[in-house]
Amino acid sequence: MPRVVTVDPGAPDPATIAAAVRVLRAGGLVAFPTETVYGLGARALDARAVARVFAAKGRPPTHPLIAHVLDAGQARALAASWPDGAAVLASALWPGALTLVVDRGAHVPLAVSGGGDSIAVRVPSHPVARALLAGLGEPVAAPSANRYQGLSPTIAAHVVKELGDAVDLVLDGGPCDAGVESTVVDVRGGALRVLRPGAVGLARLRELGAVEVRTETVAAGELRAAPGMDERHYAPRARLLLAATREDARRMAAARARGGERVGLVVHGAPEGTALPDGVVVRCLPGEPGEYARLMYRTLHDLDDAGVDAIVAEAAPEGEAWWAVADRQERASR
Ligand code: TXA
Ligand code: MG
Repeated sequence: MPRVVTVDPGAPDPATIAAAVRVLRAGGLVAFPTETVYGLGARALDARAVARVFAAKGRPPTHPLIAHVLDAGQARALAASWPDGAAVLASALWPGALTLVVDRGAHVPLAVSGGGDSIAVRVPSHPVARALLAGLGEPVAAPSANRYQGLSPTIAAHVVKELGDAVDLVLDGGPCDAGVESTVVDVRGGALRVLRPGAVGLARLRELGAVEVRTETVAAGELRAAPGMDERHYAPRARLLLAATREDARRMAAARARGGERVGLVVHGAPEGTALPDGVVVRCLPGEPGEYARLMYRTLHDLDDAGVDAIVAEAAPEGEAWWAVADRQERASR
């Protein structure tokens, strides 16, 4: 079991943060809450600490990490160039759930970038993340604190379950607000190219510039156009099946339960009133996309913990507001 310390998410205790900073300075790994999901932090400029992050996650070394910093100036210091798009998005959306992909500065360890010539940077708003960054005074490389391709953690217990002793210290600041990861935007071309839908919505990005959504996936193991775009990702242990409608979801779950499986049924909006066979565990999530996203991973973690064999999820409604939820459902079900 890693050391887990409770922190006030609004006003973290300086002594706790100082202890976490010592762990980072010694090359250790600290999991901490952000406004999106929990991150697995290491000193970004320490190549050995960064290597430990890849090992802890079981993540292929070609998948780059996000460098977290306190402000746009520090982000820019990690970049070889700072296009107009970066300046516009940074001033409108930082601190917040936005990650920018820019050209990597020469002093940034290659390992952080997965061996490539770009670097992802983000300025988080969560007070615990910010206190940690301020205390260290250096960038923190932090992917989501889960095993490769697994569900992201939205509470500290998820981190402990996923990573165990591979992490040195877990700062428990309670549940994450957004519950889904940051939106990743490549600003190196003229347009804003979305690589991963996330907590910042498409409509908000469009207000700031011409947006291109490029999130197509490639089969695992194939050469990838954009790193981290593997087909299966954000997935629970149980097989996840997507159903187009509530009716379909109910039918698929019932059929599997009659076949002897334990099945999680995840719906949204109106509560499920239909009688279902034993073996179906029903979870109803909110009908509003932001509220759904906040509880999505937590619900899937809970169903995994309950030992279900499969999870049938009612697909997210059509519409841009659901883009992050729909994206994660898609990738988890492959
Ligand atoms: O909300 C978040 O972004 C969380 C919190 C902890 O900040 N972090 C997170 O990191 O989700 P991770 O490593 O689990 O996901 C980062 C995503 C991956 O899809 C990765 O491929 C992409 O960002 N990414 C990172 N660096 C990149 C780069 N240089 N070029 C293209 N994509 C990059
Ligand atoms: Mg991740």
